[in-house]
Amino acid sequence: MSEQKKILVVDDDRDLCRMLERYLTVKGFAVDQAYDGETALRLVPKKEYDLIILDIMMPGIDGYDVCGRLKTQREYNHIPIIMLSAKSAEMDIVTGFKTGADEYVTKPFEIQKLMKAINDTMEKRRRAREDLGIKHEIKFEFESRYDYLDKVNELISQLFLRTDLAPDEIWNLKLAMHELGINAIEHGNKLDPKKQVKVSCALYTEKLEFVIEDEGEGFDPSSIPDPTAPEGIRRDRGRGIYLVSQLVDEIEYINGGCMAKMVRHLNKPRRAGAPKGPQ
Ligand SMILES: Nc1ncnc2c1ncn2[C@@H]1O[C@H](COP(=O)(O)OP(=O)(O)OP(=O)(O)O)[C@@H](O)[C@H]1O
Ligand SMILES: [Mg+2]
Repeated sequence: MSEQKKILVVDDDRDLCRMLERYLTVKGFAVDQAYDGETALRLVPKKEYDLIILDIMMPGIDGYDVCGRLKTQREYNHIPIIMLSAKSAEMDIVTGFKTGADEYVTKPFEIQKLMKAINDTMEKRRRAREDLGIKHEIKFEFESRYDYLDKVNELISQLFLRTDLAPDEIWNLKLAMHELGINAIEHGNKLDPKKQVKVSCALYTEKLEFVIEDEGEGFDPSSIPDPTAPEGIRRDRGRGIYLVSQLVDEIEYINGGCMAKMVRHLNKPRRAGAPKGPQ
């Protein structure tokens, strides 16, 4: 079963927004509307949109600005943007593409033309992901509170369903995610609920990749005490990262320590000696 694709329609012309919402809903899409740029930028981090239809002339932040801001952020720059605008001069269209638009449709438009642009853009993105080998991807963010960690486990479960990892191997990966999640909440965001933890997970043909990012000041991973040193035995904390390194194939800190990336290679023999979770 293919998942329902989510489209965000951004236009200060509310009648046009509603018309597109009705039309695209009938075509099987899940549609959200935003009547200005600020609302659009607030909505984008909340859902994983598959496409954005964006007007240019809007009060406040205009469409060029919305597009530019999204296309310069790693988390959002993969979302295709179709600009839909009454600005039809060649210069306007060039500016649209320069700010990162994937397609440009001028108003007034025929709905079939817009529909073709939607289908073509989504297909292009699907091919690009296929070239990268990404089979499934999930991204979300949560406030720095421990109770969200259960939700993380639930959300990442949908990735594991698409692999043939054994239950104890899945348990190991969930444990590793949990350790990094706690570190991001406690050490990174210092339990500040206003700070977010961002998670992105991708299933490639050959590997699973998890990235956890906090909004803290980072740290130097080479400076933390060695948990395997004899005196380390007496400490009751300070083993999270060591444990993770035993549970996954690669762990790397980037962005000055605010971002942890871990990789689990698939299609390889089971790890001997790795800690076992419940069977
Ligand atoms: N996201 C992060 N931001 C800032 N510092 C971090 C982060 N993650 C880890 N650290 C630093 O690395 C140290 C080691 O982390 P590790 O998870 O191994 O142990 P711990 O969290 O102190 O204890 P525990 O064994 O309960 O996990 C932490 O004490 C902290 O100083
Ligand atoms: Mg820890």
